[in-house]
Amino acid sequence: MEITGRHILITGANRGIGRAFAKMCAEDKANVHLVIRKEDAELVEELNAAGAKSVTVWIANLSDRAAVSELIKKLQDVQIDILFNNAGQLTGGLLETQSMDEIYEMLQVNVNSLIQLTHGLLPGMLARKRGKIINNSSVAAYMYFPSNSTYAASKSAVVAFTQCLHAELKDTGVSTLLLITPGIKTRMFDKVVDVFSKNMEVPSETISPAQYVKMIREAILHDIDVLEPSGLTGWALKAAKFAKPLFDFEVGRRFRR
Ligand SMILES: NC(=O)c1ccc[n+]([C@@H]2O[C@H](COP(=O)([O-])OP(=O)(O)OC[C@H]3O[C@@H](n4cnc5c(N)ncnc54)[C@H](OP(=O)(O)O)[C@@H]3O)[C@@H](O)[C@H]2O)c1
Repeated sequence: MEITGRHILITGANRGIGRAFAKMCAEDKANVHLVIRKEDAELVEELNAAGAKSVTVWIANLSDRAAVSELIKKLQDVQIDILFNNAGQLTGGLLETQSMDEIYEMLQVNVNSLIQLTHGLLPGMLARKRGKIINNSSVAAYMYFPSNSTYAASKSAVVAFTQCLHAELKDTGVSTLLLITPGIKTRMFDKVVDVFSKNMEVPSETISPAQYVKMIREAILHDIDVLEPSGLTGWALKAAKFAKPLFDFEVGRRFRR
């Protein structure tokens, strides 16, 4: 799908991958719709300066189901072509040390709001026979390691949801793009080190958000369904999927309770 001139809604657009993606869409002269938790005049200015056809801000806290419903209602008259479900939170550590409130909030943002937004915007896309839903999952959806139980569960849910939808949407004009995101140098990755390193030796391979969104751009333009990492993380992902005993052995070596 083309990016230029399209209406693109991005959650978590104020920093990290979402912000870099918004900038890339602006440079491609798209109509950029930002879902953020608070006004950010500097970001709007930056995107206008980068060449956006238009920039619209939608304030919503995705951990609040009613706020997501409200957002969907407001979006009914906007013909969104691409929905990028990107916002996410990280929880981790040994399960008994994690806060149940934080787990609930993370699941609400990472899973429920993603499903709710897709559910709300899909009928319009189907009626127009045009649309793309991009869901930001993670290598954690396949690479199971101790300390990552709750976050990995959320990202596996995103994989399952997107893959079912992909099959369901065949020949409708609406497609999906599943991101099996590797380590990206954002605030979340810095938190990964804080959260996991007490019990796990965490791999440190990362790429920049700007590099990653170039790959996402190519995947959109060429209508690819799944974007997986290459490099060392790509090999580790293959091991987790196809050589589980080997992956588990390596994980066991790096874990201490
Ligand atoms: N970085 C990585 O290594 C990595 C790896 C695999 C997958 N991912 C996935 O990539 C996505 C983006 O992560 P990132 O690395 O760019 O992280 P980030 O810099 O921490 O950004 C997270 C974004 O999500 C937004 N968000 C969190 N809770 C929200 C809520 N309740 N309502 C609205 N927005 C909320 C944040 O907004 P606020 O600023 O308002 O908090 C922020 O814009 C996430 O889904 C993450 O799981 C990242």
